[in-house]
Amino acid sequence: MGRNCPAIEQTRLAAPAVPREYDMKKLVIASILTATLTAGAALAASHGGDDPIATRKNGMQGVGLAMGALAGMAKGEVPFNDKQALAALKTMNYVFTTFGAHFPEGSDMGANTTAAPKIWEDMEGFMAAIDKAKMDTAAAIEAAPASAEALGPILGSVGGNCKSCHEAFRVSN
Ligand code: HEC
Repeated sequence: MGRNCPAIEQTRLAAPAVPREYDMKKLVIASILTATLTAGAALAASHGGDDPIATRKNGMQGVGLAMGALAGMAKGEVPFNDKQALAALKTMNYVFTTFGAHFPEGSDMGANTTAAPKIWEDMEGFMAAIDKAKMDTAAAIEAAPASAEALGPILGSVGGNCKSCHEAFRVSN
């Protein structure tokens, strides 16, 4: 009996992996986080019909939610969860993989777009910025962060792309 009793091991595995001192608030936040990520992935994968502006904005909203989820884990506001971290990174990578297809000529004119005219003046530079974000998220997926600490440098490299691309290719409206 004791440590190696299979029955006890079984019970332990079946019980939710929640330490006793676990803060209820964190649990609530964690389930909201799961819902957020699911919504983010759905947004990211959704297509606004034939509307490229809606499609690319949905994608970016997914990226924003994923980034928020990762930042929350890195700051310890929500418990680190390797599967959720990976899902967030994959959501971002997916968006960056498809993002470039949603900037046809003329789609700089929509009233609700914050895409800067510079995108169409320097399409090559814009595509290179997307490519970099795609590669950095792919590298982060490859690295498969296993702790909140490991997210720090990843947020640095991935997050740097948000800022630099928005500064160059987005207007503040
Ligand atoms: C390669 C360029 C690029 C990168 C990298 C990028 N964005 Fe964006 N983002 C854009 C552009 C362009 C828009 C404006 C889209 C539009 O309004 O048509 C945008 C818009 C957004 C929006 C507003 C969406 C809306 O509903 O209007 C959010 C939120 C956002 N980005 C978050 C992020 C975050 C977070 C990151 C980093 C993880 C990021 N973006 C990285 C180009 C980029």
